[in-house]
Amino acid sequence: MTTTSLTFDVKTDDYLIWQGQVVMSRSEHPYFCQLFECLAKDLRPTRVLEIGFGLGISADLIQHYLHPAEHHIVEVDTGIYADLVQFASAQTGVVPYLGDWRSTSLPAPFDLVFYDPFDYSSEPDDVVSEASLLRRLVGNEGALCHPHFGDGLPRSLPGFQTAILERFLVPEIEMADGTHCGHAAAVLCFSEK
Ligand SMILES: C[S@@+](CC[C@H](N)C(=O)[O-])C[C@H]1O[C@@H](n2cnc3c(N)ncnc32)[C@H](O)[C@@H]1O
Repeated sequence: MTTTSLTFDVKTDDYLIWQGQVVMSRSEHPYFCQLFECLAKDLRPTRVLEIGFGLGISADLIQHYLHPAEHHIVEVDTGIYADLVQFASAQTGVVPYLGDWRSTSLPAPFDLVFYDPFDYSSEPDDVVSEASLLRRLVGNEGALCHPHFGDGLPRSLPGFQTAILERFLVPEIEMADGTHCGHAAAVLCFSEK
C-alpha cells in the first residue's frame, strides 16, 4: 500500500467511520488536550512528525501546545490528505506528505513522533519491523508518543523504553469497535541506548 482512496461510511468534522469501524471521533478531543498539555510540560520539540491526520485534532493541538518550528504530517488516504493540505495552508511550518508512513521518504530524525495511524489491512502486525522503522524516525534523542486508551499497561515496542507520564480519567471515548473507554494516559517511548 502506498496510498488509498477509501470510501468512508461517515466522513464529517466529528467522525471517520470505515466499514463500521470508528477510525477517529471527536470524543478523543478532551483526552488529546490533556495529553498535549502534559507533553508541553516536558518537551519543546523543534521538529515534529505526525503519522495519520484523521480529523486533524492532534495536529491542531500540537500547534497550540507545542509550537514546533517544523510539523511534518504523513497521511495515506487521498481524501483525508486533501483536508491535511487545507490545514497546512493555514499554518506556518506544516509540511504534508501523501503516502504510507512506512515507505514515504521523511526527513528523520524528529524530536517527537506522534504515532496515530489506523490499520486498514487485515494483515497481522509485524511489530519488529514497525518498531525498527519508528526507531529510525526518532533517532537516539527523539521521543515517540502514541495514544494509550484504558488503565492497563502500554504497548511494548521492541527497542524502546516506555514511560507513563500521567494517567487520565476522560469523558467516554468511542473505540474502533464501538465500545467506550473512560481511561487514557500520556505515554512516551525512547530508543534503548
Ligand atoms: C486515528 S486517525 C488519526 C487521528 C488524528 N490523530 C486526529 O487527531 O484526528 C488515523 C489516521 O491515520 C491514517 N493512516 C492509516 N494508515 C496509515 C499509514 N500507513 N500511513 C499514513 N497514514 C495512515 C488514516 O487514514 C487516518 O487518517
